[in-house]
Amino acid sequence: MKKNITVTKPFLPPVEEYKKLVDKIWENCWVTNNGPFNKKFKEKLKEYLGVSNICLTVNGHMALDIAIKGLGIKGEVITTPFTFASTTHALVLNGITPVFCDIKEDDLTIDVDKIEELITPKTTAILAVHVYGHNCDYEKIDHIAKKYNLKVIYDAAHSFGVNKDGVSISSLGDASIFSFHATKVFNSIEGGAIIFKDKKLERIFNSYINFGIEGQEQIDFVGENAKMNEFQAAMGLLNLQYIDKVIERRKKITNLYIKRISKVKGINYVFNNNKDGYTYNYSYFPIIVDSEVAGFSRDDLYDFLQVRNIHTRKYFYPLVTDYGCYNGKFSNVNIPVAKKISKKILCLPLYDSLSLDDVNDICDIIINYKGEMDNA
Ligand SMILES: Cc1ncc(COP(=O)(O)O)c(C=O)c1O
Repeated sequence: MKKNITVTKPFLPPVEEYKKLVDKIWENCWVTNNGPFNKKFKEKLKEYLGVSNICLTVNGHMALDIAIKGLGIKGEVITTPFTFASTTHALVLNGITPVFCDIKEDDLTIDVDKIEELITPKTTAILAVHVYGHNCDYEKIDHIAKKYNLKVIYDAAHSFGVNKDGVSISSLGDASIFSFHATKVFNSIEGGAIIFKDKKLERIFNSYINFGIEGQEQIDFVGENAKMNEFQAAMGLLNLQYIDKVIERRKKITNLYIKRISKVKGINYVFNNNKDGYTYNYSYFPIIVDSEVAGFSRDDLYDFLQVRNIHTRKYFYPLVTDYGCYNGKFSNVNIPVAKKISKKILCLPLYDSLSLDDVNDICDIIINYKGEMDNA
């Protein structure tokens, strides 16, 4: 392809609309520390998500970090190895040992049937990821958590706009976190949020995002600086007006991918939009390349597309357990499915401004790849 197709691109609202909000920030002369845009964004988010308690943060990673600190999680936490670095780093940076549980082959979320065998007297929580916006089996996780008195955090970084029976899935668990990073379905440039059940945690989370400061002369927690500033909140507020259109557009692109890609032998897409009562956000389009059937591997396809200016992403490869910083430190023996999928997964370009013509061109190139190999 002549033009460069990136794997993702941020949604940007009309610049004039953002400039008006920036003018207002100047007028207010209030740029951070719980300003008027921050407060308004929080209220609008509560309405949009159908939740009661939100703490806004500078990014999704700090939302995770502070959810862990605020809930007092320690010792060992059962989590997934099939995730972005942030999920595991947040645990390790809090002195917690991640215990990796395998994932399910159908939707790539944590395999709830394998959680119980990993529980020890040191286990205090489950940190599960709604990976690609695919909801975890929260009913079983809830059941296990109650049985063993564990806390539950959901990393919902990929799941803005995913609803169960009309309510955001961020309402699940003791706390759920969002990332509003530029590359996510919904962005506030950088940004994040903790959605939580117990109102009493509000004071604690708000303190942790501001150095643990409780009052002018009172610092009760070893906190962070994780506040969302006014420029981020203004962007979030504005983008919230466009989110439904963005998701609708991503749905069209996804449906076209499905229609065309499902004809290619050896390429399977992972998609869980058909579960009862769920609406999906079309955040990623991950495919699994079965090299034995396709005649080419995931890495072959990645390289082939790369030289044709189509940039895909091996998301998630390598697995967390194979990172240089973790290699050999945590057990990776019980995660065969995660290991297998990590070598086969590829996320195709997906963002609201990707044209359907470009999607068709990408699909043509993939569909013709095998033929080109045979003729080579
Ligand atoms: C699964 C997951 N968790 C956490 C994060 C961290 O979010 P942020 O980049 O906003 O800090 C990301 C970001 O990509 C993510 O994909």
